[in-house]
Amino acid sequence: MLQSHVVTISRFLVDQQRTHPEATGAFTDLLSDIALAAKVISREVNQAGLVDILGSADEENVHGEEQQKLDVFANQVFIRALDHTGHLACMASEESEEIIPIPEKFEAGDYVVIFDPLDGSSNIDVNVSIGTIFSIHRKRSTGPRGVLEDCLQAGSKQVAAGYVLYGSSTMLVYTSGTGVHGFTLDPSIGEFLLSHPRMQIPDPPKKVYSVNEAYYTRWSTAQQRLVTHMKTDGGFGSRYIGSFVADIHRTLLQGGLFMYPADRESPKGKLRLLYEAAPMAMIVEQAGGRASDGVRNLLDVVPESLHERTPLYMGAKPFVDLAEEYLARSD
Ligand code: AHG
Ligand code: MN
Ligand code: MN
Repeated sequence: MLQSHVVTISRFLVDQQRTHPEATGAFTDLLSDIALAAKVISREVNQAGLVDILGSADEENVHGEEQQKLDVFANQVFIRALDHTGHLACMASEESEEIIPIPEKFEAGDYVVIFDPLDGSSNIDVNVSIGTIFSIHRKRSTGPRGVLEDCLQAGSKQVAAGYVLYGSSTMLVYTSGTGVHGFTLDPSIGEFLLSHPRMQIPDPPKKVYSVNEAYYTRWSTAQQRLVTHMKTDGGFGSRYIGSFVADIHRTLLQGGLFMYPADRESPKGKLRLLYEAAPMAMIVEQAGGRASDGVRNLLDVVPESLHERTPLYMGAKPFVDLAEEYLARSD
């Protein structure tokens, strides 16, 4: 029996659209297309462990192509779900060196979607949660179709950002600037249902830091001092999943501080600005937290290239402030 309070993502998007009289419905369609792609990827992710068992049954997929690595598969699902809709000027992906143009045979539109189709892919084989991250901008260039400059916008210019978490359940979490909303997939009806309206980092936040301490010896002295403080007199616990989407999802729900610092070998850290740091920064800020590159707000950073990396500190505001304070101290 469908309870009256059950809200599907489609219903939620239409209700949200009603609050924007100037809305054309393009944004609502775009997020619905992303939700469809998420369902297709979720189905594949949940069968990933079975491919080995089923063996040859999955040698070829429906497109007659070789069984692909999940991140290549997820990349294609995203592109195919969005390229023909007439809403996009272009796309960009972690898996594609250059921007992804909209084929001439399809109409182009005013939005740009930049995505990490499968985040945390090293965790697939060990059945640890993985995710998809997406960032949505408006086209700024004046030509008929999107160009690189439409993708190189500061995070503060995003019109929306979101992620899909393929965990014990599949969740889609997004913000379009008026709060963070979480939906859980009910596979029995194939619908994302509103399960976490207006997500806010708890206050007081849980004192947990999340960082890969294997790199401790490569960090700056200031970074080493920060983590040493947190694990001694700071009284913090520690949690690190190694899947950015899962680590940030936990940070939104419980509080804490996620860090991927710069180090001697990677002076800009590992995570990519356009399709990992910036979308998550918008979400964390909309949930009442902060996101910094260690010196300034991540949303203010203007990208110079598609795949540029950035150090990142995001989570509960007091903990990001603490990190910036430690990092500002000279060695
Ligand atoms: P991706 O699979 O898209 O390359 O992302 C992996 C990232 C991110 O998910 C995670 O936070 C980070 O790699 C973990 O890196 P380390 O293994 O160096 O800790
Ligand atoms: Mn990633
Ligand atoms: Mn990835």
